[in-house]
Amino acid sequence: MNSQKPILETLQRRSTPQVPIWLMRQAGRYLPEYRAVRARAKGFLGLCFTPELAVEVTLQPIRRFPLDAAIIFSDILVIPHALGQPVTFEEGRGPVLEPIRSGDDLRKLSLERLARTLTPVATAIAAVRRELPENVALFGFAGAPWTVASYMVEGIGGSDFALAKTWAYREPDSFNLLIDLLVDATSAYLVQQIEAGAEILQIFDSWAGVLSPPALERWALRPTAEIVRRVKARHPDIPIIVFPRGVGASYARYAAACGSDGLSLDTGVSPEWAAAALQPTMTVQGNLDPLVLAAGGSALREEATHILERLAGGSFIFNLGHGILPQTPPDHVAALCELVHDWKR
Ligand code: CP3
Repeated sequence: MNSQKPILETLQRRSTPQVPIWLMRQAGRYLPEYRAVRARAKGFLGLCFTPELAVEVTLQPIRRFPLDAAIIFSDILVIPHALGQPVTFEEGRGPVLEPIRSGDDLRKLSLERLARTLTPVATAIAAVRRELPENVALFGFAGAPWTVASYMVEGIGGSDFALAKTWAYREPDSFNLLIDLLVDATSAYLVQQIEAGAEILQIFDSWAGVLSPPALERWALRPTAEIVRRVKARHPDIPIIVFPRGVGASYARYAAACGSDGLSLDTGVSPEWAAAALQPTMTVQGNLDPLVLAAGGSALREEATHILERLAGGSFIFNLGHGILPQTPPDHVAALCELVHDWKR
């Protein structure tokens, strides 16, 4: 049924003539047509929760570039919003949340309105599926509990995680209540996305790399593995990719223990190491430096070729090592898609 979608073939560990490619944050501010829709929307969450607009910006990069997947336009912070925590996105400042700092604050959160609040995302997923070319697969996504919790506790991004870590180290039992709530919410939300039409899932753990190995195991790997287990119990055939950004050699722990079909590599992971340590059992995705894509030219060709030479012989999806940057010229994305699709295995 899905045999014409190269990304799904790859995740079933079958080789395809072309190396598939999509890019994290492929819908976004580097596209003038995104900025135009964003200017019309009532704030960033208004864009995420208005299906007509979310569908439009999801499809924008698909119209421009021969990408092998679309990713539904939303954000990892719709979960705290749907649990009842006020979230705003401020120009030039990123997300701002009214922080949760203790077990007592957790009483402000509830799963009760989760599915209803997130229904517009499901509506947008169903509509995108009707519009996509038949070779393009649709990703649903969510943040992993540690990364989402760190925004919920810190209140702003880009901090040093001192508040979230101190809570986790001082009062692990109450911090665990927050993590468990996020496991429940995220599992339910991902199932909702599949039932609306998502064909692959990605779980973003953007801040996994700030944790020590024991803390990583407890607060990042185990909760993520539990989400994968619950989603696969309901929908065993939907592939899942996990992105534990910055975890270094602990990528091997993820390959052994998180239960996903694929791992997305950050820019710091050596492709030769990934080919030897991860690719025998996992599909790997990655890991071009987003700044190389922004720079373009011979650096882009050399870095992309370096990755392809080492990983395209196995189960591999080309992507960036982190999200695309707003200053990226769209022409560079077109050049990268061409280079990857022209690669001879
Ligand atoms: O195209 C896609 O990939 C789908 C959409 C998507 C967005 N955010 C849209 C967005 C996805 C998959 C995300 C994931 C996300 N959101 C992550 C994990 C990936 C990563 O980059 O590490 C994280 C940590 C967030 C939280 C978040 N949302 C931050 C830190 C910011 C501000 C930084 C920034 O880039 O502005 C956002 C806002 C956001 N999410 C934008 C977009 C397109 C830009 C906001 C705008 O248009 O004003």
